[in-house]
Amino acid sequence: MTSPPRLLMCKPDFYGIEYEINPWMNRLVVADSTVAARQWEALHQTLVDLGVEIDLIDPVKGLPDLVFTANAGLVCRSLFIPSKFRHEARQGEEPCFTAWAKSRGWEIVSVPGDHYFEGAGDALFCGETLFAGYRFRSDAFGHQWIGERLGVEVLPLELADPRFYHLDTCFCPISATQAIWYPGAFDDYGRDVLKSRVGELIEVSTEEAEHFACNAVVVGRTIILNEKTPRLAASLRQLGFDTKPHDLSEFLKAGGGAKCLTLRLDGEEAAYWRFQTAES
Ligand code: ARG
Repeated sequence: MTSPPRLLMCKPDFYGIEYEINPWMNRLVVADSTVAARQWEALHQTLVDLGVEIDLIDPVKGLPDLVFTANAGLVCRSLFIPSKFRHEARQGEEPCFTAWAKSRGWEIVSVPGDHYFEGAGDALFCGETLFAGYRFRSDAFGHQWIGERLGVEVLPLELADPRFYHLDTCFCPISATQAIWYPGAFDDYGRDVLKSRVGELIEVSTEEAEHFACNAVVVGRTIILNEKTPRLAASLRQLGFDTKPHDLSEFLKAGGGAKCLTLRLDGEEAAYWRFQTAES
């Protein structure tokens, strides 16, 4: 019997648009808290129905983006590498996520110096390689350091469009050899790297990328993705995946979708280490 997938989430009790740190956020476009709560519950329920075990971190007043647990840090086996946020508005989340990880027994390993690193928002395993987005949030040094610490190859990808400020807004590994991507978010070099290093790339249009098509959660052969991305959903079904569209309109107002609202704790489906024992 394999153990169930595990995710970290945070209820949106104190979620809202209280500052503007990416092009999607506008304090005048208020997130409806009742609708946000309903959308979050629906996502949570879908994951529970898929057999996912969900760990919840307590929401904190004054930290509206704590719901985006993908930015808690990077998990690799028993290690937890906490985020070091670029924007002051989110730095208050760091002690919360670190305290949570400690309380669950993770070994905390921090990126040294004043380097920015925004966790699984910018660092995604696809097979044995850690694909790492930098520029708007994380910087390249942190990723290099993590690669050395974990003994894995890191492929730095410069993000070229501020609307796709985290790697998980434009790239989503769905298996060790397949990923969803939005080419317009990368420069020529990044596009070439992705084309040569990922076996199969499923491209999304600008319109679907703007609906956070790439910000999907993969659980086994099921992909939970944002609504209004029917073309991507059809391509995924053709590849043999089941798809579950969700309306996450209130979270899109903060620049986040399904993936941002979760942190996989036992290894993403695409991550090589999920299938290895600690010794291998
Ligand atoms: N408002 C948040 C921010 O700008 C959204 C974070 C979305 N998270 C993600 N993993 N892309 O930081």
